[in-house]
Amino acid sequence: MKTIEDLGDLAGQRVLVRSDLNVPIKDEVIGDDGRIRASLPTLIKLAKAGAKVIVTAHLGRPKGEPNPAYTLAPVAKRLGELLQPEGITVHFATDVTGESAQEAVQELDEGEVLLLENVRYDPREESKDEAQRGELADELAALADVFVSDGFGVVHRKQASVYDVARKLPHAAGGLVLAEVEVLKKLTEDPARPYVVVLGGAKVSDKLAVIDNLLAKADKLLIGGAMVFTFLKAQGHEVGKSLLEEDQLDIVRGYLKDAGDKIVLPTDIVVAPEFKGDSPATVVAADAIPADQLGLDIGPDSGKAFAAEVAGAKTVFWNGPMGVFEMAAFAGGTKAVAQALTEVDGLSVVGGGDSAAAVRQLGFADDAFGHISTGGGASLEYLEGKELPGLAVLEEG
Ligand code: 3PG
Repeated sequence: MKTIEDLGDLAGQRVLVRSDLNVPIKDEVIGDDGRIRASLPTLIKLAKAGAKVIVTAHLGRPKGEPNPAYTLAPVAKRLGELLQPEGITVHFATDVTGESAQEAVQELDEGEVLLLENVRYDPREESKDEAQRGELADELAALADVFVSDGFGVVHRKQASVYDVARKLPHAAGGLVLAEVEVLKKLTEDPARPYVVVLGGAKVSDKLAVIDNLLAKADKLLIGGAMVFTFLKAQGHEVGKSLLEEDQLDIVRGYLKDAGDKIVLPTDIVVAPEFKGDSPATVVAADAIPADQLGLDIGPDSGKAFAAEVAGAKTVFWNGPMGVFEMAAFAGGTKAVAQALTEVDGLSVVGGGDSAAAVRQLGFADDAFGHISTGGGASLEYLEGKELPGLAVLEEG
């Protein structure tokens, strides 16, 4: 993959950058701005090189039409605050490639940044039809001279602003994409052992491919999150009102049969009668979940056992919270795993939007971990061994 340096002198050049600025926003307030911060080094580098920096990005899934609930305006404001100490001004265009975008590009000065409105307001962005995507990519390309792909979190998407536009302009990978790939390569090629993977989150079905691939590569696979209940049920235990994917039971039984020695399940569970922060929580054995309760976190014994496995590893990858960490009563498991990751003598990688948000919400500093990936789906698909279109196109040269 070419780097920004390979693009030559960028002074006065219009550089289109695809960033992943998909951050949680509620009532116009940004929750975790980690992805915005992660996008800064590339934007600063380009602006300092005298480029006119045009950023395209998405927010949420607005289904191909303008929707104020998904405007990038609050992100432009935050970006402006973060770049202000660098003396870099941020402008915002109220459309994707229309009049506002075109005028703003014309008025953009060297060393300034322009953020275009949510690219997913345009139905062609996510179209399955290559010609449709190509049209939008042409319009984006017409705004710029070169393209820098830096939205690692979205490189698994074959979309106009990620994939097609790279075929229309001289292009390079930004520093964030290069850094993410370098770390994930270490996990897939020759990880220092023991290599422990911790997987959480709600659905086994979302994680099947990665479980398959990781069972072959990792020494231990620790399972937490609501996914656990499908594993416990597959072992023959009752799981009460907990989330269960009946249609995955056979597959999970297969994993337990073939790789049972690698899979570590919790031995105790925090349960409550309802999915509510103030629902009275108790700890029960994993094989004795009452019929009228649902599991909302791994229990304290399991937290300790998982932490011990993690702390003893030389390489750890973690994706998905262990419980409903947003509610204090069910955050213990996630906290225990996060704490253990900070103590790893080796490489610790936190992958995924949810896990990254969890560690920050629980008060851990980013630099307590070896690497916090900005990609949820992207990092998982990389570990699954899939080809990621947004990376493949950069390798085409
Ligand atoms: C993410 O949040 O994982 C990325 O921004 C990609 O978003 P998407 O899953 O809506 O394509």
